[in-house]
Amino acid sequence: MVKSFNKENIYLASGFAHPQLAQDVADYLDVELGGVEQRLHPNGEIYSRFNDSVRGKHAFIIQSHVASRVDGRKVTPNDAIIQQAHLIDAARSSSASEITAVSPYLAYMRQDRKTRGRETTGARPLIQLLGQCGARRIVTVDIHSPQSMLIHDGPFDHLTAQRALEAAMVSELGTFDHNEVVVVAPDAGAAKLAQSHQRHLDVGILHLAKQRARGDSQRIQRDEKVPEAEGKTCLVFDDMIDTAGTLVTAVEALKNSGAKEIHVGASHGIFSKPALDRLENAPIDKLYVTDTFPQKYAKRRLGNKLQVVSVAPIIGEAIRQIATDGSISSLFDDENHM
Ligand code: R5P
Repeated sequence: MVKSFNKENIYLASGFAHPQLAQDVADYLDVELGGVEQRLHPNGEIYSRFNDSVRGKHAFIIQSHVASRVDGRKVTPNDAIIQQAHLIDAARSSSASEITAVSPYLAYMRQDRKTRGRETTGARPLIQLLGQCGARRIVTVDIHSPQSMLIHDGPFDHLTAQRALEAAMVSELGTFDHNEVVVVAPDAGAAKLAQSHQRHLDVGILHLAKQRARGDSQRIQRDEKVPEAEGKTCLVFDDMIDTAGTLVTAVEALKNSGAKEIHVGASHGIFSKPALDRLENAPIDKLYVTDTFPQKYAKRRLGNKLQVVSVAPIIGEAIRQIATDGSISSLFDDENHM
């Protein structure tokens, strides 16, 4: 039976990585964000403490695994992970009744298999760390490798921002001729995502191939022409943009093949160097990303070319469903599993 949402029973806490998103989630739910005292020791180790009692509460520890600053000092995604683990552990040892790790961007999910001997898989130790520290449940947005969710013993709630990105794109496009629009998968990994948008929008689909240059995995080769893109409005979807190598080679191939307009949607705008330089010059009419990463700097650089779609309502609503024993999949018409 669905319970009523009792704000007194939950403790929303944010680490240092992306406090604005956690505040937006709290505002969406109309709850106070729990205070966290946090600082860096001179040697870079992290100190964190909840300001208020978490005893008997469901603690939601929100931390996107992104780089940020603490007391003016740069901290890395790895610091964000460690601090989330510390806060989970602190909630456990302070008698929280339930602990959920909310990681809008969950790091290391691209390292989900061994491709060479003696290589680490980043996904397994990360998920095990959160679970072993005390998170019974993990929540994330558009995970890169859905199979990695199986590593966790407890519930793993997968949220998607792809419908929200699609809606923002379609609202900007206005009414469109379904024969003139194609959804584009920039590489094989994005194929399922693209198929789901294609079904939803009832338009055509194009699959592009990606090859990494030999001896330089950062350089992506793509010299094919895409005749089917000629005269079309292309909607390119991916789960993330990191250095923008994948995306920019894809949109250049589309443009060189005569695409009329190119619109791009990606859940995680990581934007590692040289992504923003590449994107400034890329033939993209409009780019949509979410705020799983802080996007102030990217917005300054890209201006109106970039639209940021907030995941705060998605995460807020998921927290409400979790806290009331409701349904997550019903939030997405069961399309959150890709
Ligand atoms: C790959 O499988 C991912 O979905 C992204 O396409 C890729 O990781 C993005 O990285 P970059 O922007 O550095 O090409």
